Amino acid sequence: MIIAVDGPAASGKGTIARALAKRYGLPHLDTGLLYRAVAATVLREELDPEKEADAVAACDFPDSLLDDPWLRTDDVGKVASVVSAHPLVRASLLQRQRRFAGQPGGAVLDGRDIGTVIAPDADVKLFVKATPAIRARRRHDELRRNGANVSYDRVLADIRARDERDSRRADAPMRQADDAALLDTSFLSIDAAVQRAVELVEARK
Ligand code: C5P
Repeated sequence: MIIAVDGPAASGKGTIARALAKRYGLPHLDTGLLYRAVAATVLREELDPEKEADAVAACDFPDSLLDDPWLRTDDVGKVASVVSAHPLVRASLLQRQRRFAGQPGGAVLDGRDIGTVIAPDADVKLFVKATPAIRARRRHDELRRNGANVSYDRVLADIRARDERDSRRADAPMRQADDAALLDTSFLSIDAAVQRAVELVEARK
């Protein structure tokens, strides 16, 4: 069984994808991490994320980079959204994601274009969303817990900018696949959102 989970930043898609992978005993790939690894390499090597050739050169990152906690920061996420708009960057990461999805027992992948581009034949597709204000609140709480001193308005502006870039780009923009079930987590606890995701999987698998 292949499960595709797409949605914007802080929608809950990562938590839901991890919980589904555990429940169904499937391997899980957070595809955002691949774009974050490209972004981290661009930053470390002082390349220009707006330049496609620079971003493509950064696609050759070592696997060990995927474990670096720095990748999870908002600074890297912002640059990830810039490098991910380049078609040659997306092409360079495509096979790796398709191979993961094609494992014999199936897999869970989360990202922006899993149901539309990476695994259009996935058995189950979920599109997870929540209002920008609620996603910003979640992200802001998380940042504050980790000791970051950043305003809610700044976080909301960053979330809106990222949504805009991810959904406006020409190549594989973020969008709900026609056959994806919509899961709005705006007013759901984590447990309730996971429960709802399981119900949707059970109804579709
Ligand atoms: O999900 P996450 O916030 O880690 O993703 C970081 C960035 O990587 C996103 O803002 C998006 O631009 C890009 N991305 C993508 N396609 C995916 C996953 C992530 O373009 N499948």
